[in-house]
Amino acid sequence: MSENNEKCACGCNGHDEREDKVLEVIKECKYDKSQLMHILNETQNIYGYIPMSAQKIISKELGISMAEIYGVITFYSRFSLEPKGKYNIAVCLGTACYVKGSQSVLDKVKEILGIDVGQVTEDGKFSLEATRCIGACGLAPVMTINEEVYGKLDPSMVKDILAKYE
Ligand code: FES
Repeated sequence: MSENNEKCACGCNGHDEREDKVLEVIKECKYDKSQLMHILNETQNIYGYIPMSAQKIISKELGISMAEIYGVITFYSRFSLEPKGKYNIAVCLGTACYVKGSQSVLDKVKEILGIDVGQVTEDGKFSLEATRCIGACGLAPVMTINEEVYGKLDPSMVKDILAKYE
């Protein structure tokens, strides 16, 4: 069985059209290795993350090693190796946020949602990640929920913030 014929991760048990879209993007980029960032961006948009199956396609079609692709994905925080929830919560653990207590904010989110960093709640609503500095140190400690930024947090504020998304 070829790698591209692996069963769809979404559980549909059939052909995964998202793989066709990735192949289409690669074709549009004329199989040009220098377009790797663009292709990964598009793949992230197609799946909401960059699964192993897509990494294999990109590796094969562009002739780039899996290690190199993995290195690029893990270097840039906008790329994710894991599926994300409808609302992705990112708590900053950069230095400014950390010294102002972001670890306790993160612990509170974990406690309320019952998930760890890198996990998604069972209903698919929330995912949680810890990030490096997002450039909003003046608001430390900071967390984002999708595009929304919440600053000057303390753990007692987390419950009410999450309740807005319930
Ligand atoms: S350290 Fe958190 S925003 Fe800069």
